[in-house]
Amino acid sequence: MLNVALPKGRLGDQVFSMLERAGYGGAGPVKGSRRLVVEDKAAGVRYFLVKPSDVAIYVLHGAADVGVVGKDILLETTPDVYELLDLHIGTCRMAVAGLPNTSFSRQVLRVATKYPNIAKRYFDAQSREIELIALNGSIELAPLVGLSDVIVDIVETGSTLKANHLKVLEEMMPISARLIANIASYKFKAQAIQAMVDALAQEVNRRGEGIQ
Ligand code: PRP
Repeated sequence: MLNVALPKGRLGDQVFSMLERAGYGGAGPVKGSRRLVVEDKAAGVRYFLVKPSDVAIYVLHGAADVGVVGKDILLETTPDVYELLDLHIGTCRMAVAGLPNTSFSRQVLRVATKYPNIAKRYFDAQSREIELIALNGSIELAPLVGLSDVIVDIVETGSTLKANHLKVLEEMMPISARLIANIASYKFKAQAIQAMVDALAQEVNRRGEGIQ
């Protein structure tokens, strides 16, 4: 059995549709289910439904052989896993955002974010001094109430920024979902993992060519 950690929620639903089309959908409906373990015996896969930010933890410790995780989480936590494939779903971008009239002239820029490591690396590389304010959600609120000067966050549709009269001040990097593998599993379950990579890569190409 190949143990696969999938992120619950919006990204997970997209990943599961992709797996279905790639021939790994025999586990039945995952969307809306409260079950945390589902199996597709015929395809030889068992899915674990986990919080998106926990996928890489299951894979790092070998509880899951492979998993699907956002590049944002990989960049933030830098787990020692193999990154096998860009699935080209869950696409968004990491950006510095703030009020339109934000001044960068403060000596120490206050940065609110769920991604302190990414933010620190980005500003360090530019020798800009920052004070990090680590938050867990509703990041856009921070500059509105004077908690921070700017935020570092993912922007998908841009609607959260727009609704709060904020704008992207600096683009940082594109983000998308990646298939990752545990290092030992990649060796010992090479065939099963490669079969999944190939099937998903085909799906990525089909989508890229507009074939649904
Ligand atoms: C994420 C992110 C932004 C928003 C971006 O938050 O932190 O707030 O989505 O998406 P948009 O550009 O399409 O508006 P999430 O929905 O995960 O909620 P959170 O506030 O709990 O982090």
